[in-house]
Parts: sequence; C-alpha cells; structure tokens
Amino acid sequence: MPGKTFYLETFGCQMNAHDSEKVVGTLMAQGYSQVETPAEAHLVLYNTCSIRDKAEQKVFNRLQNFKREAGKGKVFGVLGCVAQQEGEKIFERAPHVSLVAGSASYTRLGEMLVQLEAGNRHVTGLSLDTDETFDTPFTRRDNPHRAYITIIEGCDKSCAYCVVPFTRGPERSRTAESVMTEARRLAEQGYTEIQLLGQNVNSYRDPSPAGWDFAALLARVAEVSGIRRVRYTTSHPRDFVRSIVDAMDSNPVICDHVHLPVQSGSSKVLAAMDRLYTRDDYMRRIEWIRNAKRPYSLTTDIIVGFPGETEEDFGQTLRLLDEVQYDSLFSFKYSPRPNTAALEMGDKIPEEEKQRRLVIVQEKQRAIQIRRNAESIGVVREVLVEGRHQALGQWIGRTSDNRTLNFTHPDSGGGSLVGTYLPVRVTRAGPNSLVGESVTVV
Ligand code: SAH
Ligand code: SF4
Ligand code: F3S
Repeated sequence: MPGKTFYLETFGCQMNAHDSEKVVGTLMAQGYSQVETPAEAHLVLYNTCSIRDKAEQKVFNRLQNFKREAGKGKVFGVLGCVAQQEGEKIFERAPHVSLVAGSASYTRLGEMLVQLEAGNRHVTGLSLDTDETFDTPFTRRDNPHRAYITIIEGCDKSCAYCVVPFTRGPERSRTAESVMTEARRLAEQGYTEIQLLGQNVNSYRDPSPAGWDFAALLARVAEVSGIRRVRYTTSHPRDFVRSIVDAMDSNPVICDHVHLPVQSGSSKVLAAMDRLYTRDDYMRRIEWIRNAKRPYSLTTDIIVGFPGETEEDFGQTLRLLDEVQYDSLFSFKYSPRPNTAALEMGDKIPEEEKQRRLVIVQEKQRAIQIRRNAESIGVVREVLVEGRHQALGQWIGRTSDNRTLNFTHPDSGGGSLVGTYLPVRVTRAGPNSLVGESVTVV
C-alpha cells in the first residue's frame, strides 16, 4: 500500500474510543500515518457500534458515500461491534470493504494489516474464542491528562436486549500487575486522571494468584503516586458490592461519582430483561451510596418501551427517578437487536409510544437536574480544566462528581490552563452544566 496513510472514525462507547487509541498506536508502529479526512487516506477504517439500530446504520451510510472510490486504490475496513455482528455479510452489502474485524481479534491486527498490504481483499478477524485481552504498548492517547485503562473486556451477562456479549465475546480480565504497570507508567508520563474501563468492571477478577477483585484494584490504582482522579465505568448493579463504596470512601482520589445503570424501575421488566436484580436490590445499593462518608453523584441508563412494559411498569420507572434523584441519565428507546433474547418476546410497544415515554423521562429528569445543579450555587469545587470556550471567554472544567463547570479566570489572556486543577466558585446552574469563577483559595 503506497503512502501508508489511514483515516479512522470511531462510534460508540468509551471502550470503542480506547480501542481506537490502541488501533491508531498499532498502525503507527507499522509505519502508517494518520490523516484527517477519508479523501486523503489509503486505508479508511470505521470502528463501529451496534448497540441500537441507528448506531449500526451510521457506518453503512458512511460506506455508501464512498462506494465510487472502490478500485481507486482505497482500502476500507470495518472494525468493532458491527463488524463482529455482521461478519462476512459486510463484504456482500459493501463490496468495497476489505477488512472486517471485531475487537476480540485486535491482537492480530498487525498480521491483518500485512494481509491487506499483500492485496488480500477479504481479510477477517471474527473469532470470539479467546481468553486474551488487547494489551499493547502502542496506545496513541487522545487526551494528554486523562487516560483510559481497559481492565476487563467482553461481557458474561445476557441482558435480553443487548448485543454486547455477541459483539465483544466472553469476559476476560487483565492481570492486576499489567493494570498497575500501565497506571504507574501513565502517572510518570504526566497523566493525572485515570478511567478504568469495562462493560462490567464490577466483575473484574485478577486472573493471577493474587486474585484481586474490583474494589481491591480500584483502591490500589488510586494509590499510584501522581494520580489525582480515578473514575470507572460501567457498573452492573448485581455485581456492585459494598466494598466498592468502602474503597471510594477511604480515598478521595476515587471520584465522587457512581454510574449505576438501572434500565427500568419495574421488577417485572427487570426480570424480563434478565438483569439479575430487583428494584429492591437496586435501591439497597443506592442506600449504601447515599449513606456513604461523602456525597456521590449518581447517574444511570434507562430503556423505555422494552417488550411488555405497561403503563404501570413505566410509572414505576418514573417513581424510581423521583426516589433516587439522579444527577444525570442516558435514556433510550428500546431497539430490537439481532441475536438477542428480546427479539422473540411478544407485546411490542409501538414507536410513538416509546417516543412519548422517552420525552416524559427526559422532561422529568430535566426538572430534577435543574434542582440538583442549583444546590451547587455558592459552593467552591475543584475542577480539572479540559478546554476553552473561545466564544464565551470561559474555560471548561470537570468536577470530581462529573459535572461540567465552565468558568472565567482573571488570567484568561495568558497561557493555557488545560490540565490544571483549580478551585472554582459556582455562580449559576443550568440543567446540564454549572458556571462559575475561579477563586484563589478553597
Ligand atoms: N455494560 C453497560 C453498558 C451497555 S450499553 C451496562 O451493562 O450498563 C449502554 C446502554 O445502552 C445500556 O445501559 C442500555 O441502557 C442501552 N442499551 C443497550 N442495548 C439497548 C437496546 N437494544 N435498545 C436500547 N438501549 C439499549
Ligand atoms: Fe449488555 Fe448487560 Fe453486558 Fe451491559 S451487562 S454489556 S447491558 S449484556
Ligand atoms: Fe457500541 Fe460496542 Fe460499545 S455495541 S456501546 S461500541 S461495546
């Protein structure tokens, strides 16, 4: 492949974003250079998401746009969850695609690139039969201050609506030693925030004899010298044990935030979803968090319109939102997905009804957030500065409890504050962010 340039666009979750950082690093180690547009690239890659139908359609729309480029020396590759799900069918649907590889096969990426370079036009990496994790020294990180570390790949749950167990394969935990080595190296390189990643970090189990569970790993990563913030995502309520709250309580380096996806407030719907907990089980965990030694912000994911969700079930979700008072949430209309158990379920909810329920959830949550965020007015919070809003003359900061806090600073004309930690007094609050001004003393 002359020139060896590549373009990569990433869709989906943070695991995909971090996989892309590793893919970019691997490609650069093989002599490729990254370009900003598909037009300039010899190799055009899409790292795809298949969680809902809309996400899946995006990649096919992108590929459609480039149909005419086929045969002009451009090589197209589909990576990630759509690749794993659709497999070789992608070659039929988009004949100009030459590479189809799911995340469980990225350890073979180098080899697959060699095949592409040799002119092979049907290169695949689709085996899920692996106990390996994608540990690579070649990660090319997008952010100079905040770094992702994958601690566990795949998922062994079987939530009835979810493609992830099919697209990312079985659970594989990295050794604690490998995680700790990466954390220490990141601290030495100047990173101050670490985000531990996995589809279900709570089921992490060190495969080496030390056998640390997630709470132990979390506590140890937070002790790495130079690391000021540790976040983690995502938790599964069933595996969210009390020792995780204890670990958080004992070290403020672990951020004041728990993302605990509930999906529904109805135990009947939770059972149909095969979530392995009831509403009461979930609320018990909320109680642990609310009774902890310091306040934690709480966020969640909600699915509306799962098959069989009655008006009464939906009402229970709304009541749960009132009870928990989440600081933020992601809400989705149920989207039927290939291979999943929910496909076979009767009593489907019409699209308009899903839309109606989604709007109700979002309006209720908006009112809750306006109230919750207003509680911060007058309070001084520490932010990590993430960027600058040139037009507004504000810096963009993030608090430990994961709120965006945009603020003004007297030295705004001077050097960049990005990457620094500063105390900021909150002066205004909206539904989705806070506004404030930096102060000299906390
Ligand atoms: N492993 C994580 C996240 C999975 S995907 C977890 O267990 O929470 C992120 C969110 O997408 C899920 O929490 C769920 O709310 C939503 N989601 C997953 N599959 C979906 C589907 N088929 N339709 C609508 N939303 C879905
Ligand atoms: Fe999907 Fe459930 Fe696994 Fe999360 S825990 S990735 S929702 S199967
Ligand atoms: Fe999407 Fe795959 Fe993540 S389906 S949400 S990119 S695990």
